[in-house]
Amino acid sequence: MLKPTSRDLRKVLNLNDFEPLARRFLPRAIHGYVAGGADDGATVQHNLDALSRLKMIPRVLRDVSACSQQVTLFGKRYASPFMIAPMGASAVVGHDADNAMALAAKAANIPYVLSANAITSIEEIGHHYPGCWFAGYQKPEKDNIERMLDRVGAAGFSAYMLTADVAVGSNRENNQRNGYTMPFRPTPRLVADMLCHPSWLCSTGLRTLRQRGIPRISNIDPVRCPSIFSREISAVTGYPSFSWEHVEMLRRHWDGPLIIKGILSPDDARLAREMGVDGIVVSNHGGRQLDCAVAPIDVLPAIKDQSGDMVVLVDSGFRRGTDILKALALGADAVLVGRPFLYAASLGGEPYVRHAIGLLQREIHTDMSLAGVTNCAALQQETFMYG
Ligand SMILES: Cc1cc2nc3c(=O)[nH]c(=O)nc-3n(C[C@H](O)[C@H](O)[C@H](O)COP(=O)(O)O)c2cc1C
Repeated sequence: MLKPTSRDLRKVLNLNDFEPLARRFLPRAIHGYVAGGADDGATVQHNLDALSRLKMIPRVLRDVSACSQQVTLFGKRYASPFMIAPMGASAVVGHDADNAMALAAKAANIPYVLSANAITSIEEIGHHYPGCWFAGYQKPEKDNIERMLDRVGAAGFSAYMLTADVAVGSNRENNQRNGYTMPFRPTPRLVADMLCHPSWLCSTGLRTLRQRGIPRISNIDPVRCPSIFSREISAVTGYPSFSWEHVEMLRRHWDGPLIIKGILSPDDARLAREMGVDGIVVSNHGGRQLDCAVAPIDVLPAIKDQSGDMVVLVDSGFRRGTDILKALALGADAVLVGRPFLYAASLGGEPYVRHAIGLLQREIHTDMSLAGVTNCAALQQETFMYG
């Protein structure tokens, strides 16, 4: 498929509409890497089912002419209660995708979270878009923790999010079937797949190689940036000995907001709170880690009960304004959205991500007005959920 044009963009009416376009545009292996989940993909489906099961009770005849979807997170006011989730290797999926997403997020005044597994460096994003958040896959050595936090802080990032649900790499059979491997191996099948998607190959694959050389995983270590062909990167998802003891080290060395991503148990939320963590992301990693994990929206109320003053964020499968309202009504302060923004960045860069953000903002505005609430806090204060 040719790279979509602005005419195609007009047909994208909601976040789900990006996926079929991306499926045609991206090589099968790359699309599978983004879309896929662990094992049978049961959790990917759970996430959607759990959200669609929930129902709201709207209130009527309230003056909703001055409806605001702004939220305050860690003392900063943002335009909307959602943000762009950290996604590794994004710039392999779409040309300069990390920059495209960070730019669109900055223009819209929503947070952008850069991944440890990005091929765009902390310094590049921090230089252009100071105040972004960083999501670390952290090695357990004290010295490494301290030097990594120093690097993140020096680059101008405002919050550190520890990705905690990656003790080991998960079982992604779709990657194996499609030939997507890390380290990257250009097998004849993968090369054929790319050649069958010439528009992606020219606009992203070859262009990235020309402009940046061999992509490197830029942010998993204070100094080392292994290339995507290096054997070193098979280990980037898992540091099995990482534990709460290391969270204490992070807390001691990082003064800014510290967030733990991948919490699904109320007991883990309690531990985080007791350690002085500032925020958590209730998340099953978009169904990409433990298959058959509970959907975050289902455990959100129990986790909220244990979270004290921590900021509670949630992700995995949120696509609609109504999904965001449900999360806020059940206790979340904001929601992370992943795949649709990456599809948008791959299809058309920053303008497409901007379009995606605008679509979700419009839905939230409409849905808040129809639910009879004028601000996000009001959603938490009343009983909007049915059952
Ligand atoms: C392609 C891809 C790469 C990801 N890489 C990371 C990562 O490096 N670090 C991380 O914490 N989460 C990562 N995630 C998980 C997202 O941050 C987020 O939890 C998930 O995508 C949310 O689900 P959604 O895509 O259904 O919105 C990744 C997700 C995708 C789709």
